[in-house]
Amino acid sequence: TVYENESIACRKVALRISDIIKSKQRRLENAVLGLATGATPVGVYEELIRLHKEEGLSFKNVITFNLDEYYPMQPDSKQSYVKFMDENLFNHIDIKRDNIHIPDGTLDKEDITNYCLAYEQKISAVGGLDLQILGIGRTGHIGFNEPGSAPNSGTRLVTLDDLTRRDASRDFGGKENVPTKAITMGIGTIFKAREIILMAWNKKKAPIIKKAVEGEISANVPATFLQLAENVEFILDKEAASEL
Ligand code: GLP
Repeated sequence: TVYENESIACRKVALRISDIIKSKQRRLENAVLGLATGATPVGVYEELIRLHKEEGLSFKNVITFNLDEYYPMQPDSKQSYVKFMDENLFNHIDIKRDNIHIPDGTLDKEDITNYCLAYEQKISAVGGLDLQILGIGRTGHIGFNEPGSAPNSGTRLVTLDDLTRRDASRDFGGKENVPTKAITMGIGTIFKAREIILMAWNKKKAPIIKKAVEGEISANVPATFLQLAENVEFILDKEAASEL
């Protein structure tokens, strides 16, 4: 779906999230949301905060799982996704802290495999993701599933692509400071969500959106695997859709 601009598109995504939360509330169930970081979802989070403050949308029945975190990464560091989520969403809503899950960037290397299995199990134990929102990196990554990721991959430690590290260099004050690794949900983990929304704005994303939507399905552009999913919607602004 192509919208006139980013803010209209963000409002639509926020309303979809709010509908899921409210319909679960009516059934006295938890809504389980897969969340993303980066510039792309910020407008969605702003709109959710507005819905909370002005329209009383409650997040007390919401359980969240974030897609990824740099590794290694301390949660209180400026660039951590823990900090990002607190600042851009969690500190401004009534979500219960125990219901928030973000991959742990402080683990010892030998503990990561078990931790990742447990992350998957936690998602299953609460009934699976009702909705996963995604941005897209210029390598075609979703989460941090870089080129070469398998369609059935699970949560795991990955090596970041050079282009991804270059794109992150501004946040870290130089590429050399960007971690070389990350913990990310896998493509297989994302596919298990009952609904997937991939968002992209601006001209900068137009070439990778063309590849993701119209290109040959291949691990070289992990987002092309979404062509195989039936429950996925690409929500774009005019510029991101301009090469389709
Ligand atoms: C990071 C995140 C991805 C995100 C991508 C795009 O690599 N791990 O989940 O989709 O950046 O970032 P942005 O939304 O800032 O363009």
